[in-house]
Amino acid sequence: MSYHVAILWGSSGFGFWLAKFLLKHYGGGMRLMLTWRHAERGTRAAASIGAVYTSDNTKAVSDADITIIAVKISCTGDVVREIAPFLKKGSVLLDVTSVKMEPTNTMRECVSEDVLVIPTHPMFGPYLETLEGQMVVLTPYDDRVFADARYQWFKGEIKRLGANIIETTAEEHDTMMSIVQGMTHFSLFVMAETIRRLGVNVRLTHGFSSPIYRILIAMVERYIHQKPELYTDIQLENPKNEQVYQAFLWSAAHFAEIVRRRDHHAFIETVYDCKNFFWEEAEKGQEFTDKIIFLLSREREKLHRAMVSWASTPIKNIHTNETRTVRITRIGSRSFFDEEKHQYFMRQWILDPDGEI
Ligand SMILES: NC(=O)c1ccc[n+]([C@@H]2O[C@H](COP(=O)([O-])OP(=O)(O)OC[C@H]3O[C@@H](n4cnc5c(N)ncnc54)[C@H](OP(=O)(O)O)[C@@H]3O)[C@@H](O)[C@H]2O)c1
Repeated sequence: MSYHVAILWGSSGFGFWLAKFLLKHYGGGMRLMLTWRHAERGTRAAASIGAVYTSDNTKAVSDADITIIAVKISCTGDVVREIAPFLKKGSVLLDVTSVKMEPTNTMRECVSEDVLVIPTHPMFGPYLETLEGQMVVLTPYDDRVFADARYQWFKGEIKRLGANIIETTAEEHDTMMSIVQGMTHFSLFVMAETIRRLGVNVRLTHGFSSPIYRILIAMVERYIHQKPELYTDIQLENPKNEQVYQAFLWSAAHFAEIVRRRDHHAFIETVYDCKNFFWEEAEKGQEFTDKIIFLLSREREKLHRAMVSWASTPIKNIHTNETRTVRITRIGSRSFFDEEKHQYFMRQWILDPDGEI
């Protein structure tokens, strides 16, 4: 049986990843239509994977059995309002928005009861080969959804593909995300801005660094390296972030004041209060980071062995699974070199765990 799927803003970013993923797993019998605001690039991207492009969202959804909205977070509400009157009766509407309250409220207000609405938040970026071990949050707001066979099928498929599911409310999702994404991204961007303001040469700091600093600063670098548009919306569009920022700024001021007063007792007491509050999670965090440090230093040892043995060494790209054989002649803090081939490999290349060294 042939069925139609429309991914709105499916020719770029997360939507395009999703399009390729769906074609890989459900290609046979699926007719896929993608939209984007750039007609020429959109047509090219869609054609490259065997999908069809249209610039018209309403046309894309009017014939779709399944519609998926993958637009920028702050545009999701407008897109829902635009397409709601054109959705096919009996079809399914999903969104993948990283913030859930506002899009969910708009879908509840605008989408007819004839359409099954499944708000989702896939908790991973658009670069995975498989869903193994990943998390997908579902926030259905209508009791009838739980009883619908299509919703149960959808959940079954996510599990079959190896991902885990959390079913919750949009409000609970946004409260959790205000910590998981809001607070963590915020603190990383604050660290980046602090370094910039101080004019610190980050490269020089690596010479003085501990393994934990290398992990933390890599997180800062990772977040400023990616698209700021998505992170801006994650900060600005979650209504639960506001109270987190207030608490964060209060806590920063509290520690700054303790340090300014040189109050040893207050500093120690505050950290103990946090430790008691986190309870056994603090110990688990210590063990987890011990493990990361161990694995990184183990990898370095292996790289060193490969270098001194002068042997041909199989390596693998963790994003593409591409394998190569190199002769490692030099190891940097975050890359290694094959000077014979005049090539350096960043750390997305690892020693191939399946290869012989
Ligand atoms: N990336 C992730 O890791 C991730 C993970 C889970 C869920 N999601 C969700 O997936 C959705 C898409 O995210 P994304 O990472 O692909 O990138 P994004 O930066 O959120 O942009 C997605 C699309 O929105 C378009 N867009 C931007 N501003 C617009 C505007 N003013 N009017 C109309 N369209 C506009 C962009 O078009 P242009 O290319 O022309 O700018 C792009 O095609 C979001 O809801 C996000 O929360 C993303």
